[in-house]
Amino acid sequence: MTSTQTSPSSRGGDQQRFGESPESVRETDHYQQEYIEDFADRWDRLIDWEARERAEGDFFIRILKDYGAHSVLDVATGTGFHSVRLLKEGFDVVSADGSPNMLARAFRNARHRDQLLRTAQADWRFLNRDIHGTFDAVICLGNSFTHLFKERDRRKALAEYYAVLKHNGVLILDHRNYDRLLEGGSAVSGAKGTVYCGEDVQVGPEHVDEGLARFRYAFGDGSTYHLNMFPLRYGYVRRLMSEVGFQKIASYGDYQRDFEDPDFYVHVAEKEYRFDGDATML
Ligand SMILES: C[S@@+](CC[C@H](N)C(=O)[O-])C[C@H]1O[C@@H](n2cnc3c(N)ncnc32)[C@H](O)[C@@H]1O
Repeated sequence: MTSTQTSPSSRGGDQQRFGESPESVRETDHYQQEYIEDFADRWDRLIDWEARERAEGDFFIRILKDYGAHSVLDVATGTGFHSVRLLKEGFDVVSADGSPNMLARAFRNARHRDQLLRTAQADWRFLNRDIHGTFDAVICLGNSFTHLFKERDRRKALAEYYAVLKHNGVLILDHRNYDRLLEGGSAVSGAKGTVYCGEDVQVGPEHVDEGLARFRYAFGDGSTYHLNMFPLRYGYVRRLMSEVGFQKIASYGDYQRDFEDPDFYVHVAEKEYRFDGDATML
């Protein structure tokens, strides 16, 4: 798919500073300009927490409990959905994100739900510089890993996640089904997707090529925002994970082990070292 429509001018778009040629913005650091305060404020309208909780069920909680995880590092806290959910379930959570706007919003969201977040501003590429200690689990959810544009950034981030895990820790990372988008399909299979469930927002790709998926978020009040993301292919993510050292990787589609053309993939990658050889791809 190539460009399908031009974006109308909008308050949000202007503040996000994509410049004259938004499709040429393919930089890892640009997320700092994309997650501006206004967008962070509206993000929770994009994602209806109750609907999302219903869609996810106890999928992540069950996996974390199955692995006996207690301490969890949420590296892509965003506005705090998973951090809050896990705190309520009794996990010991540290909430990290590279964007101070998102962390401030997450902290407020948590307070409104009677939870106190332990936040840390940390870019994934230098995670272990800013985060101390090790964790049973690292979560990188809500299609966040897609913000890394260079392969070496993706490798470095995965290596940092690996390093911050305990010896038998587990990484849980998700992303959209970009394979389908790259092959000309739509972003979601139904009228609404499984992860981004909001009443007051229209979400869709504006441009897709092998190096960029540019999504437009149009809110009911007329404001529009964009995110430029790298379209991660399913097989590629699994290969990178195994190349940085995760030996056993189980993947799910829309929270199911049996899947065909899902909207979202979730990869669960184990750090535990096995002497008996090759990576196991489940
Ligand atoms: C899609 S949002 C978060 C979604 C959140 N996990 C959820 O599921 O609602 C992606 C988050 O990743 C953060 N992020 C993007 N690139 C980053 C990087 N290199 N280091 C740290 N955080 C980053 C952004 O600031 C943003 O808050």
